[in-house]
Amino acid sequence: MPTIVLSLGGSILLPDIDRPNIKPYISVLTRISANHRLFVVVGGGGTARQYITLARSFKADEAFSDELGIMVTRLNATLLVGALGKAAYPCVVTSHTEALCAAETGKIVVMGGITPGQTTDAVAAVLAERTGADLFINLTAVDGIYSADPRKDPSAKRFETMTPAELLGVVIGQQAVAGVNTVMDIVAVKMVERCGIPLLVMDGRDPALLESTLETGRFVGTLVTGSGKNPFPLKK
Ligand code: UTP
Repeated sequence: MPTIVLSLGGSILLPDIDRPNIKPYISVLTRISANHRLFVVVGGGGTARQYITLARSFKADEAFSDELGIMVTRLNATLLVGALGKAAYPCVVTSHTEALCAAETGKIVVMGGITPGQTTDAVAAVLAERTGADLFINLTAVDGIYSADPRKDPSAKRFETMTPAELLGVVIGQQAVAGVNTVMDIVAVKMVERCGIPLLVMDGRDPALLESTLETGRFVGTLVTGSGKNPFPLKK
């Protein structure tokens, strides 16, 4: 079975507590797990940013704010575990080794954040390396990586493929503070460069897209690969 690691942004899964996008994900993830070894790393989204902003107003340091963010990612991850029911390993794992052990059950393994100074994209990138994943997918609210922010610059162009070094060039100027909303965490990109596992950055708002991508190998997004090779079809 191919191994897939998903970085599932909190803002994708739970855009708002009143507007959850969890239900459509349950059936898709459960079906994908029937023929993939599946790991899901859940982000903290807007709720994490709200807590971080509040902590900062009390002059909390950035590492403390990161800890709050981690708690929210684990809260969201716990909600996903509950929603997946028997399809998921029943605990949110808190280390990469624990994730490997949990995968032995054959169930979907769910994680949140683990350590200050990074985001769940970095957790997922290291997990991709530890699990020898065939593909690492970053599910975001944008359909790939653009030359500029497409919400602000209509002339921004989406990259169909790029190398990790080129992606590093895009993210290098990003800030490194708690709750920062960026294309991708620089630690994650460094890990992708190091392990050589292909990364697909795609729109996660409609989980049906994820399922069809894995089924057909056709995708809309940005493929980040050092080898330039298309990872599809994934090995059986
Ligand atoms: P996220 O991974 O959710 O950040 O972590 P994000 O990139 O904003 O993701 P979305 O919005 O969910 O897509 C939220 C915050 O939690 C802390 C950081 O402060 C991060 O910005 N965090 C998370 C850590 O410090 N370490 C971790 O391992 C994970």
